[in-house]
Amino acid sequence: MIQRSGKAIFLVFVLLNLQLYFVQSSSEEAKPNSQESIADVLQTFELTNFKSLLCKSQLLGLFQGIGDQFTVFAPTNDALPLGCRQLLESNTTSLENLLLYQIIPIGGFTTGNLISNIQPAKAANFTTLEGSRLPIHLLQNGSLRIGYNNVSIVRADIVAFSSVVQITSGLALPSYLVNNTAVLHTCPQ
Ligand SMILES: *[C@@H]1O[C@H](CO)[C@@H](O)[C@H](O)[C@H]1NC(C)=O
Ligand SMILES: *[C@@H]1O[C@H](CO)[C@@H](O)[C@H](O)[C@H]1NC(C)=O
Ligand SMILES: *[C@@H]1O[C@H](CO)[C@@H](O)[C@H](O)[C@H]1NC(C)=O
Ligand SMILES: *[C@@H]1O[C@H](CO)[C@@H](O)[C@H](O)[C@H]1NC(C)=O
Ligand SMILES: *[C@@H]1O[C@H](CO)[C@@H](O)[C@H](O)[C@H]1NC(C)=O
Repeated sequence: MIQRSGKAIFLVFVLLNLQLYFVQSSSEEAKPNSQESIADVLQTFELTNFKSLLCKSQLLGLFQGIGDQFTVFAPTNDALPLGCRQLLESNTTSLENLLLYQIIPIGGFTTGNLISNIQPAKAANFTTLEGSRLPIHLLQNGSLRIGYNNVSIVRADIVAFSSVVQITSGLALPSYLVNNTAVLHTCPQ
Protein backbone atom coordinates (compact mmCIF):
# COMPACT_ATOMS: atom_id res chain seq x y z
CA MET A 1 0.00 0.00 0.00
CA ILE A 2 2.67 2.49 1.05
CA GLN A 3 4.82 1.25 -1.80
CA ARG A 4 2.01 1.71 -4.30
CA SER A 5 1.26 5.27 -3.18
CA GLY A 6 5.00 5.97 -3.32
CA LYS A 7 5.03 4.83 -6.93
CA ALA A 8 2.04 6.99 -7.80
CA ILE A 9 3.76 9.99 -6.24
CA PHE A 10 6.88 9.08 -8.16
CA LEU A 11 5.06 9.16 -11.51
CA VAL A 12 3.46 12.52 -10.76
CA PHE A 13 6.80 14.04 -9.90
CA VAL A 14 8.51 12.58 -12.92
CA LEU A 15 6.01 14.57 -14.97
CA LEU A 16 6.45 17.72 -12.91
CA ASN A 17 10.20 17.47 -13.27
CA LEU A 18 10.33 16.90 -17.00
CA GLN A 19 11.24 20.51 -17.66
CA LEU A 20 14.19 20.38 -15.28
CA TYR A 21 15.14 17.04 -16.78
CA PHE A 22 15.36 18.46 -20.30
CA VAL A 23 17.34 21.51 -19.16
CA GLN A 24 19.64 19.06 -17.42
CA SER A 25 20.08 16.52 -20.17
CA SER A 26 21.00 19.14 -22.75
CA SER A 27 24.17 19.96 -20.81
CA GLU A 28 24.84 16.52 -19.46
CA GLU A 29 27.82 14.43 -20.38
CA ALA A 30 27.83 10.69 -20.64
CA LYS A 31 27.74 9.31 -17.14
CA PRO A 32 29.42 6.21 -15.78
CA ASN A 33 27.01 3.37 -15.20
CA SER A 34 27.95 1.20 -12.26
CA GLN A 35 26.57 -2.29 -11.89
CA GLU A 36 25.48 -1.68 -8.30
CA SER A 37 21.94 -0.92 -7.24
CA ILE A 38 21.07 1.85 -4.78
CA ALA A 39 20.42 -0.82 -2.12
CA ASP A 40 23.88 -2.30 -2.80
CA VAL A 41 25.51 1.14 -2.50
CA LEU A 42 23.75 1.79 0.83
CA GLN A 43 25.19 -1.48 2.09
CA THR A 44 28.70 -1.09 0.59
CA PHE A 45 29.14 2.45 1.92
CA GLU A 46 27.79 1.55 5.38
CA LEU A 47 24.68 3.68 5.07
CA THR A 48 22.87 0.90 6.88
CA ASN A 49 20.92 3.09 9.34
CA PHE A 50 19.36 4.97 6.45
CA LYS A 51 18.80 1.69 4.62
CA SER A 52 17.04 0.18 7.63
CA LEU A 53 14.71 3.20 7.89
CA LEU A 54 13.88 2.85 4.19
CA CYS A 55 13.28 -0.85 4.73
CA LYS A 56 11.00 -0.27 7.74
CA SER A 57 8.99 2.24 5.69
CA GLN A 58 8.79 -0.25 2.81
CA LEU A 59 10.42 2.31 0.52
CA LEU A 60 13.37 0.22 -0.69
CA GLY A 61 10.97 -1.26 -3.26
CA LEU A 62 10.85 2.13 -4.99
CA PHE A 63 14.30 1.44 -6.32
CA GLN A 64 13.84 -0.89 -9.27
CA GLY A 65 17.39 -0.85 -10.61
CA ILE A 66 18.70 -0.22 -14.09
CA GLY A 67 16.02 2.18 -15.37
CA ASP A 68 16.02 4.44 -12.30
CA GLN A 69 17.49 7.94 -12.35
CA PHE A 70 17.16 8.85 -8.71
CA THR A 71 19.30 11.32 -6.83
CA VAL A 72 19.47 10.05 -3.24
CA PHE A 73 20.84 12.10 -0.34
CA ALA A 74 21.86 9.41 2.13
CA PRO A 75 22.96 10.43 5.64
CA THR A 76 25.93 8.67 7.23
CA ASN A 77 25.30 6.16 10.02
CA ASP A 78 26.65 8.72 12.51
CA ALA A 79 23.93 11.13 11.41
CA LEU A 80 21.24 8.60 12.35
CA PRO A 81 22.02 7.37 15.86
CA LEU A 82 19.57 5.14 17.72
CA GLY A 83 17.78 7.99 19.52
CA CYS A 84 17.20 9.76 16.24
CA ARG A 85 15.92 6.61 14.54
CA GLN A 86 13.58 5.91 17.46
CA LEU A 87 12.22 9.44 17.34
CA LEU A 88 11.61 9.21 13.59
CA GLU A 89 10.11 5.72 13.81
CA SER A 90 7.56 6.93 16.37
CA ASN A 91 5.52 8.41 13.53
CA THR A 92 5.45 6.25 10.42
CA THR A 93 3.81 8.92 8.26
CA SER A 94 6.31 11.61 9.06
CA LEU A 95 9.19 9.10 8.77
CA GLU A 96 8.04 8.11 5.30
CA ASN A 97 7.71 11.76 4.28
CA LEU A 98 11.15 12.63 5.60
CA LEU A 99 12.77 9.69 3.79
CA LEU A 100 11.03 10.61 0.53
CA TYR A 101 12.31 14.17 1.04
CA GLN A 102 15.88 12.82 0.67
CA ILE A 103 15.15 11.63 -2.88
CA ILE A 104 14.88 13.56 -6.14
CA PRO A 105 13.01 11.20 -8.46
CA ILE A 106 14.81 12.17 -11.63
CA GLY A 107 18.18 13.19 -12.98
CA GLY A 108 20.68 10.94 -11.29
CA PHE A 109 22.39 14.23 -10.48
CA THR A 110 26.10 14.32 -9.83
CA THR A 111 27.35 17.34 -7.87
CA GLY A 112 28.46 18.76 -11.23
CA ASN A 113 24.89 18.41 -12.53
CA LEU A 114 23.51 20.08 -9.38
CA ILE A 115 26.05 22.92 -9.58
CA SER A 116 25.24 23.55 -13.25
CA ASN A 117 21.63 24.25 -12.19
CA ILE A 118 22.57 26.81 -9.50
CA GLN A 119 24.21 30.23 -9.69
CA PRO A 120 27.13 30.73 -7.26
CA ALA A 121 25.96 32.12 -3.89
CA LYS A 122 22.37 31.27 -4.83
CA ALA A 123 20.00 28.35 -4.33
CA ALA A 124 17.83 26.20 -6.54
CA ASN A 125 14.75 24.24 -5.55
CA PHE A 126 14.51 20.59 -6.55
CA THR A 127 11.20 18.72 -6.25
CA THR A 128 11.53 15.66 -4.04
CA LEU A 129 9.54 12.43 -4.02
CA GLU A 130 7.87 13.71 -0.86
CA GLY A 131 6.49 16.56 -2.93
CA SER A 132 7.97 19.62 -1.30
CA ARG A 133 10.95 21.61 -2.42
CA LEU A 134 14.50 20.80 -1.47
CA PRO A 135 16.62 23.95 -1.61
CA ILE A 136 20.26 23.41 -2.55
CA HIS A 137 22.64 26.32 -1.99
CA LEU A 138 25.88 26.75 -3.87
CA LEU A 139 28.40 28.54 -1.65
CA GLN A 140 30.97 30.94 -3.12
CA ASN A 141 33.71 28.31 -2.66
CA GLY A 142 31.79 25.74 -4.69
CA SER A 143 30.42 23.62 -1.82
CA LEU A 144 26.79 22.60 -1.79
CA ARG A 145 24.40 22.84 1.17
CA ILE A 146 21.33 20.64 1.09
CA GLY A 147 17.89 21.31 2.62
CA TYR A 148 16.60 24.06 4.88
CA ASN A 149 19.13 23.02 7.55
CA ASN A 150 22.06 23.18 5.09
CA VAL A 151 23.62 19.74 5.51
CA SER A 152 26.76 19.12 3.50
CA ILE A 153 27.83 16.38 1.13
CA VAL A 154 30.57 14.30 2.76
CA ARG A 155 31.08 11.91 -0.16
CA ALA A 156 29.86 12.78 -3.62
CA ASP A 157 28.73 11.04 -6.77
CA ILE A 158 28.42 7.34 -6.02
CA VAL A 159 26.84 5.90 -9.13
CA ALA A 160 24.24 3.14 -8.81
CA PHE A 161 23.22 2.11 -12.35
CA SER A 162 21.87 5.47 -13.62
CA SER A 163 21.07 6.81 -10.14
CA VAL A 164 23.46 8.76 -7.95
CA VAL A 165 23.89 8.58 -4.18
CA GLN A 166 25.28 11.65 -2.38
CA ILE A 167 26.36 10.91 1.20
CA THR A 168 25.28 13.72 3.53
CA SER A 169 26.29 14.87 7.01
CA GLY A 170 22.67 14.69 8.18
CA LEU A 171 19.07 14.41 7.10
CA ALA A 172 18.05 17.29 4.87
CA LEU A 173 15.10 18.92 6.62
CA PRO A 174 12.04 20.37 4.89
CA SER A 175 10.86 23.83 5.97
CA TYR A 176 8.25 22.38 8.34
CA LEU A 177 10.94 20.55 10.35
CA VAL A 178 13.80 23.04 10.29
CA ASN A 179 12.77 24.51 13.64
CA ASN A 180 11.65 21.21 15.20
CA THR A 181 13.72 21.10 18.40
CA ALA A 182 13.16 17.35 19.03
CA VAL A 183 14.61 16.50 15.62
CA LEU A 184 17.41 19.07 15.88
CA HIS A 185 18.44 17.78 19.33
CA THR A 186 18.40 14.05 18.51
CA CYS A 187 19.49 13.91 14.87
CA PRO A 188 23.02 15.29 14.28
CA GLN A 189 23.31 17.76 11.43
C1 LIG B 1 2.40 11.97 12.51
O1 LIG B 1 2.88 12.93 11.61
C2 LIG B 1 1.86 13.44 10.76
C3 LIG B 1 2.53 14.26 9.68
O2 LIG B 1 3.56 15.03 10.18
C4 LIG B 1 0.89 14.23 11.62
O3 LIG B 1 -0.13 14.77 10.81
C5 LIG B 1 0.28 13.28 12.63
O4 LIG B 1 -0.54 14.00 13.51
C6 LIG B 1 1.37 12.58 13.43
N1 LIG B 1 0.78 11.51 14.21
C7 LIG B 1 1.01 11.37 15.51
C8 LIG B 1 0.36 10.19 16.17
O5 LIG B 1 1.71 12.16 16.14
C1 LIG C 1 12.62 28.21 -3.72
O1 LIG C 1 11.36 28.08 -3.09
C2 LIG C 1 11.14 29.07 -2.08
C3 LIG C 1 9.86 28.72 -1.36
O2 LIG C 1 8.80 28.63 -2.25
C4 LIG C 1 11.13 30.45 -2.71
O3 LIG C 1 10.94 31.42 -1.73
C5 LIG C 1 12.47 30.67 -3.41
O4 LIG C 1 12.46 31.90 -4.08
C6 LIG C 1 12.76 29.57 -4.39
N1 LIG C 1 14.12 29.73 -4.88
C7 LIG C 1 14.43 29.73 -6.17
C8 LIG C 1 15.87 29.90 -6.51
O5 LIG C 1 13.58 29.58 -7.05
C1 LIG D 1 33.32 26.34 1.88
O1 LIG D 1 32.79 27.25 2.79
C2 LIG D 1 32.07 26.67 3.87
C3 LIG D 1 31.42 27.79 4.68
O2 LIG D 1 32.29 28.79 4.94
C4 LIG D 1 33.03 25.82 4.69
O3 LIG D 1 32.32 25.22 5.78
C5 LIG D 1 33.59 24.74 3.79
O4 LIG D 1 34.54 23.97 4.51
C6 LIG D 1 34.25 25.35 2.57
N1 LIG D 1 34.59 24.28 1.66
C7 LIG D 1 35.74 24.23 1.02
C8 LIG D 1 35.92 23.08 0.07
O5 LIG D 1 36.59 25.06 1.18
C1 LIG E 1 21.21 27.97 5.17
O1 LIG E 1 22.02 28.71 4.26
C2 LIG E 1 21.35 29.82 3.69
C3 LIG E 1 22.27 30.44 2.65
O2 LIG E 1 23.54 30.61 3.14
C4 LIG E 1 20.99 30.81 4.80
O3 LIG E 1 20.26 31.88 4.25
C5 LIG E 1 20.13 30.09 5.85
O4 LIG E 1 19.86 30.94 6.93
C6 LIG E 1 20.82 28.85 6.36
N1 LIG E 1 19.92 28.13 7.24
C7 LIG E 1 20.31 27.58 8.38
C8 LIG E 1 19.27 26.86 9.17
O5 LIG E 1 21.47 27.63 8.76
C1 LIG F 1 12.82 29.00 11.83
O1 LIG F 1 13.28 29.86 12.85
C2 LIG F 1 14.00 30.99 12.36
C3 LIG F 1 14.58 31.73 13.56
O2 LIG F 1 13.60 31.92 14.54
C4 LIG F 1 13.06 31.86 11.53
O3 LIG F 1 13.76 32.97 11.03
C5 LIG F 1 12.54 31.02 10.37
O4 LIG F 1 11.59 31.75 9.64
C6 LIG F 1 11.90 29.73 10.86
N1 LIG F 1 11.63 28.91 9.69
C7 LIG F 1 10.47 28.31 9.50
C8 LIG F 1 10.32 27.56 8.22
O5 LIG F 1 9.57 28.33 10.32
